[in-house]
Amino acid sequence: MDQQLIVLVGATGNLGGRIARELRRRGAVVRAIVRPGTFAVRTKHLLQEGVEIVEADLNSKADVVRACVGASCVVSTLLGLAPTLVDAQSALLNAAIEAGVPRFIPSDYAMDFTKIAPGLNRNFDLHREFRSRLEAAPIRSTAVLNGAFMNLLTGEAPLVLFKIKRVLYWGQTPEQTIDFTTMDNTAAYTAEVALDPAAPSILRIAGEQISAAGLARVVSEVTGEQFRLLRGGGLGRLQVLTKVVKALTPGSNAPFPVWQGMQYLYCMFEGSGLLTPLDNARYPNLQWTGVRTVLQHAS
Ligand SMILES: NC(=O)c1ccc[n+]([C@@H]2O[C@H](COP(=O)([O-])OP(=O)(O)OC[C@H]3O[C@@H](n4cnc5c(N)ncnc54)[C@H](OP(=O)(O)O)[C@@H]3O)[C@@H](O)[C@H]2O)c1
Repeated sequence: MDQQLIVLVGATGNLGGRIARELRRRGAVVRAIVRPGTFAVRTKHLLQEGVEIVEADLNSKADVVRACVGASCVVSTLLGLAPTLVDAQSALLNAAIEAGVPRFIPSDYAMDFTKIAPGLNRNFDLHREFRSRLEAAPIRSTAVLNGAFMNLLTGEAPLVLFKIKRVLYWGQTPEQTIDFTTMDNTAAYTAEVALDPAAPSILRIAGEQISAAGLARVVSEVTGEQFRLLRGGGLGRLQVLTKVVKALTPGSNAPFPVWQGMQYLYCMFEGSGLLTPLDNARYPNLQWTGVRTVLQHAS
């Protein structure tokens, strides 16, 4: 079989760079579309991995169509708000269709926003808006849904509070299951999906499904110190606090302001976006990383 050409948008970013590497490991030809004027230092590692770099503005249709010709799949890992996630990604989608590309992977990589009520999470509303365009478009697509990036547990996600040895939860129970997947696992899986012409329209994965109570047990074991559960309050209280923080925060174009992070927390503990059933086994050679490994590295 001929090597497949995969066009990747977002390769200078965190997830996109990992997907480029995983695609190259699997022998794919990878063409990354980057913004015109992207500094060489940001594409050097991609070139070293054998990724072809094409500079194009996503709104310059002819340039993007040319870059997409011959690809078996376009993979997007764009990050931004409506001008990026909806407008620029739609321009990319239209160019892929015009170039005759048969498949598209949108920049979703989230919990199951198709099951979360509109209005609960600003970013999920944007994903849903793009998805409605994608579903109406004459191209096959696969959304990769992975829950929260597991790496957030040792960084930005206010769940495991290392300094005060607490695991925070919201809502009635610390037993609500939450999906976590490492960025590396998400990237490897996405590379498999990009090379799989039979992939369906949604694939759901989780490196581990675990509750706040489960996290408290694991982090206590790996650190040898007792982490207790800390209840932030009910979900109604979290919603009120989110509105207050949003009202007090100056307007921002950032994809993840504090209030948006609070909307993610709400969706985690509300539970309707839980990933089920899981499609981890579709590519049996992948090795899944669990929270124990990630927390061990942080302790
Ligand atoms: N599930 C989770 O917990 C979680 C957490 C974080 C992110 N995500 C998702 O993962 C995906 C990728 O996130 P990431 O962390 O890899 O983001 P990132 O590191 O910021 O990378 C975003 C990429 O998009 C490119 N980009 C943004 N706007 C563009 C535009 N208008 N034209 C061309 N390129 C543009 C950036 O290019 P430049 O380098 O030139 O700016 C960069 O390559 C997103 O779907 C995001 O929602 C999920």
